[in-house]
Amino acid sequence: MNYTPSLTRYDNMLYNRCGKSGLQLPAISLGLWHNFGGVDVFENGRQIIRSAFDNGITHIDLANNYGPPPGSAEENFGAILKKDFTGFLRDELIISSKAGYNMWPGPYGEWGSRKYLISSLNQSLQRLQLDYVDIFYSHRPDPNTPLEETMQALHDIVKSGKALYIGLSNYHEAEAKKAIEILKNLGTTCLIHQPKYSMFERWVEDGLLDILEEYGVGCIPFSPLAQGLLTDKYLHGNIPQQSRAAKVHGALQSSAITPQVLAQITALNEIAKKRGQSLAQMALSWILRDNRITTVLIGVSSVEQLHNNLSTLNNLKFDKEELDAIEKILAMNQ
Ligand SMILES: NC(=O)c1ccc[n+]([C@@H]2O[C@H](COP(=O)([O-])OP(=O)(O)OC[C@H]3O[C@@H](n4cnc5c(N)ncnc54)[C@H](OP(=O)(O)O)[C@@H]3O)[C@@H](O)[C@H]2O)c1
Repeated sequence: MNYTPSLTRYDNMLYNRCGKSGLQLPAISLGLWHNFGGVDVFENGRQIIRSAFDNGITHIDLANNYGPPPGSAEENFGAILKKDFTGFLRDELIISSKAGYNMWPGPYGEWGSRKYLISSLNQSLQRLQLDYVDIFYSHRPDPNTPLEETMQALHDIVKSGKALYIGLSNYHEAEAKKAIEILKNLGTTCLIHQPKYSMFERWVEDGLLDILEEYGVGCIPFSPLAQGLLTDKYLHGNIPQQSRAAKVHGALQSSAITPQVLAQITALNEIAKKRGQSLAQMALSWILRDNRITTVLIGVSSVEQLHNNLSTLNNLKFDKEELDAIEKILAMNQ
């Protein structure tokens, strides 16, 4: 079936400025780490992308290695773009990719050398069938490559026109600060940082968010639902067959669903109910409570989950009692 984007696609989404840049991003962005690879059902992914765009999600996040097999999420998304996003629709999208993790054999297939980053971006563009990505990330810091080399490569990539903006992912505060300064001295602004952040993983609160604010860099937390733990999926202690924790290639281990986690999500779910939200919606609005966060980067395995998460935007406010009650639950047994 031909795709005609909804005419109301910009009516209900909230757009936030990314740091001090000129770019606005939707409060909810969609990541293709799981559910869009060669092992997944192509038409399911295609419907999710269409529905996301119909609801104002203009930002799609990828990386060289997303699949499995690695590279297949970029290939599939490239095919969806070709089929559905014809004409000038490319200009309504922000498409991100990254390089840093293991992608091909030998010494040039991972980490942060100039050789790897530039070769990997060229491969990503081929798979995506695009001339440029909007944001290109260093996916992780490389302890064995000078930060100057990695940042020079990112700067040169922007100069070459193959990426419009640069991002960092998984850089802790000291190395993020140094990288942002190197880029600035080269004449390229770091647009955004992509760290892991959820109710269950809060290291960014210890300094990274302050640095990003100081330098005017946006923030896009990944795995805000702790890969599905912060949803109603595992609430009853069993692992549904189609869930990430049940899949051989799923990154969520069933061992992560401990009695302590179950007790915490059960208690959090009670607060969510009182707020008239699903647990997932509360977990997402809790991330967006901090105005240093530009957008939350979710994953979904169905259009239903996408719609459930989009309704987060109906209630982004917390009162002090709710925040205190959440803190108490998160501190349980620690
Ligand atoms: N920079 C990095 O190093 C890095 C690392 C990881 C991820 N990322 C990016 O972040 C994106 C999101 O990560 P993530 O997929 O781990 O995020 P997440 O949003 O924490 O987890 C997504 C999973 O949660 C479940 N889910 C989502 N909404 C739900 C709902 N309303 N009800 C019930 N279950 C729901 C689904 O699990 P089921 O599949 O079980 O249905 C879905 O696959 C990735 O796609 C990728 O773009 C970046």
